Amino acid sequence: MSRRPEVRCVEEEGPLGKLIIVPKGLENVVPDTTAISGVDPKGEHTIYRGYLITDLAENANFYEAAYLFLYGQLPCEDELREIKRKIDTYRAQVPEKLFDALKLVPATHPMYYGSFGVLFLGQYYAPEWRFDDDFLYDHALRLIAQLPVIFAAGWHLSRHGTFIRPDPGLDHPRDVLRMITGRTPSDLAARAFEVSLILYMDHGFNASTFTVRVIGSTLSDMYSAVAGGIGALKGPLHGGANEKAIEMLLDAKRRAEELGKPLEEYIEEYILEKLKRKERIMGFGHRIYKIHDPRTDVAAKYIRQLKDGEWWLKVLKRAEEVMWREKRLPANIDFYTAVLYYQLGIPVPMYTPVFAMGRVVGWTAHYIEQVKNNRLIRPTEKYVGPTGLKYRPIEERCRR
Ligand SMILES: CC(C)(COP(=O)(O)OP(=O)(O)OC[C@H]1O[C@@H](n2cnc3c(N)ncnc32)[C@H](O)[C@@H]1OP(=O)(O)O)[C@@H](O)C(=O)NCCC(=O)NCCS
Repeated sequence: MSRRPEVRCVEEEGPLGKLIIVPKGLENVVPDTTAISGVDPKGEHTIYRGYLITDLAENANFYEAAYLFLYGQLPCEDELREIKRKIDTYRAQVPEKLFDALKLVPATHPMYYGSFGVLFLGQYYAPEWRFDDDFLYDHALRLIAQLPVIFAAGWHLSRHGTFIRPDPGLDHPRDVLRMITGRTPSDLAARAFEVSLILYMDHGFNASTFTVRVIGSTLSDMYSAVAGGIGALKGPLHGGANEKAIEMLLDAKRRAEELGKPLEEYIEEYILEKLKRKERIMGFGHRIYKIHDPRTDVAAKYIRQLKDGEWWLKVLKRAEEVMWREKRLPANIDFYTAVLYYQLGIPVPMYTPVFAMGRVVGWTAHYIEQVKNNRLIRPTEKYVGPTGLKYRPIEERCRR
């Protein structure tokens, strides 16, 4: 069953030729092809370079998935060793000057540390940008390795004046989670975190990836493009939803406790009240997944095994039943990672940065795909403002 709206494009003559007027928000509009990720023909699954996202999230590790995105196939042993060596080495090589610069940034939402730090790295490593393969892939790996360090260091520096240095001897996901929480994670926690990063790595032409491609299409550098992607991801309608979702769930939990009601029952009343006030329920709805987001099934498996997992799943399922009954909207991955990250002890403002730590893999792969087969992305507009006005000096136009 598909509930996708019909694509309705209108053609009309414009001043410079035919205009194609597409649906607002570009829903169902295809501005280009990609071999990186997309939706399967039934519209039920996301495919990463030919593989179902759920297959990779359950079976691959971070390095294998990153290799697949960048180079188009899963690595052999020597290739895997090499990408792991590079990511782990680069993670430990964030320039000291960047840590000094982060100390000057006032306490703010950590997504800003990401865009700030990435632009710093761009100037530091590559003031002269190039487009040859060695150069592009090397900088993609630096970004993948170093963005998490920037976020974690920025977060801790702004709050405690110190930060946790990377340990190149640990696997990337385990080390990143350690730098965020300050504790060495258990195997289960490290794997749950790794799986969430893989689930977040890419998703077709989502808003932040499209932003990256637009910036890439101007032949600007990869660091500027990724900084733009971070800006787009920060919004509550995109990556910011996982933070908003946990804030909502914790608010509901507090109120349920005050009322002496179990949250798994009270959540219904809570959501209905919000809907009555015409508020959006964060973590529900999706441009692509209209019935079910399969990424939630993978996240649920890990939620179940972590603290209070069965109870949290009851709460999530009840919320999903209510939202489906009332609005015909499914939960998306952010509703589930919101709980998973809470269980892992990640501070709430770091949830969207964690999304970016996974998505940077997709951003860099899309940047490379874009610049290798480039045409400037520059839509046109349909101007609906006034015409024919004539400039008048200020004393004439402001006479009352
Ligand atoms: C993801 C999202 C932006 C997709 O939106 P979209 O395809 O552009 O759909 P629209 O924003 O046009 O919304 C269509 C209708 O569904 C409603 N709707 C969409 N998401 C909703 C939500 N989470 N809660 C309540 N109502 C919602 C809208 O109010 C609108 O209703 P109306 O037609 O009565 O005005 C949207 O579902 C949303 O805002 N979700 C919450 C944020 C979120 O979880 N984002 C993460 C996505 S992975």
